Amino acid sequence: MATKSGEGFSSSFGAIMAAAGSAVGLGNIWRFPYICGKYGGGAFLLVYICFVFFIGMILMMSEFIIGRRTGEDPMKAYPKLRPDRKGWRFVGLAGLFTCFLILAIYLVISGWTLNYFWESLSGTLASIADNDFASHFNAFASSTWRPIIFIAAFLLFTTLVIIGGVEKGIERVSKLLMPILLLLLLVLCVRSLSLHGASAGVAYLFQPDFSKLTGEGILAALGQALFSLSVGMGVMIVYGSYLPVDDNILKTSIWITVCDFAIAVLSGIAIFPAVFACGQDPTGGPGLVYQVLPMVFNSLGTVGRIFSIVFFLLLSLAALTSAISLLEALTQWLSSEKIGRTKSAIVMSLVVILFAVVASLSFGNGILSGVKFGGLQFFDLLDKLTGTVLPPVCALMTILFFGWFMKKEDIIDELSNHGTLKIGYFKAFYYFLARFVAPAALIVVLVSGLIN
Ligand code: PHE
Repeated sequence: MATKSGEGFSSSFGAIMAAAGSAVGLGNIWRFPYICGKYGGGAFLLVYICFVFFIGMILMMSEFIIGRRTGEDPMKAYPKLRPDRKGWRFVGLAGLFTCFLILAIYLVISGWTLNYFWESLSGTLASIADNDFASHFNAFASSTWRPIIFIAAFLLFTTLVIIGGVEKGIERVSKLLMPILLLLLLVLCVRSLSLHGASAGVAYLFQPDFSKLTGEGILAALGQALFSLSVGMGVMIVYGSYLPVDDNILKTSIWITVCDFAIAVLSGIAIFPAVFACGQDPTGGPGLVYQVLPMVFNSLGTVGRIFSIVFFLLLSLAALTSAISLLEALTQWLSSEKIGRTKSAIVMSLVVILFAVVASLSFGNGILSGVKFGGLQFFDLLDKLTGTVLPPVCALMTILFFGWFMKKEDIIDELSNHGTLKIGYFKAFYYFLARFVAPAALIVVLVSGLIN
């Protein structure tokens, strides 16, 4: 099907799967369950739903519109829409820079995940005693070579898909992996819910406890919504430029958002009942997946072993389709500078792996853990920049451009596929959210985030 940039997805289904692949990642399966539990379960969920649908989805639609309208990478898209204000290209640049940093830290965590998949498969995890999982994780993540090998392996898969191209690489892999992921997750949910004592986990996740929903929790919900939907840093501008010209942007965005949200909730259902059934601490935080879950799996005998393999495979696949979108954004930009797609992908991979390796070596007690930036180890610095600071800044700039600088006729024309789709009431509602509600909410998050 035709796209403005020439390269592109062959069908709306392929486009939805690829963009959903970008959205669904470590953010849903590894991060969402633990912060949802931490900030009051059901209460957090209510706030999160509002942010996802009223801000995240609005940004997604806006980025798709910018991308498809121009058929360009984020650096060129802004000045193409407003040739009189070329300075907006720096928003595109800031987005790409954010993608680069996210990819660096994402590779480290994906490398851990791949290692845990390998260790489930080889039986290493099954031979570890319950009390030793925390030290096992710390020893592994702080060691020098092993994490780097897994980071390199993960990046190799990612780069190969990118070199395969948009339709034959990204679309094909996503169309295959996303349904498998959903299926595996459903199997895990059923197993988890059937464990004795599972209901405590379900209650933990869904029962609203408004006393735990602090201001910090509300900020966490917004940050999580942006990160999880992959919006704010231009990735959806890139995928927007590959959208078929007759794709219904409104429908596509709703599908992806619902998919991303559902997978986050399903992950919670897969994880918490099992954690409670095995008497583990649900506030295990970022280590939950690597330190607590293997313990849960081990207590389930042979079934647990299968559970463990499936889970870490699932997490690796989810991380892969997200990493693909980050590397694609960087590759699209570099290759549009006339270097060619394959070369661009390889150059970008080589540069980003340097950052990922430094981040890995600075983690925990790693050999570079003594090097500090403003009191933070490099890994923690990246985590902070990519988790709280940069995405809301980029998202705010994007939505300000969209709501206040882009021509309204362009937006309506693109959203309605040149007048062929009826968008009636939605038009006014959407425009109001994009112009006022989303920017105001982002400013609040950003200011409070920077003060903290
Ligand atoms: N959305 C992905 C996740 O939830 C992460 C991501 C962020 C991917 C930004 C691309 C861009 O894991």
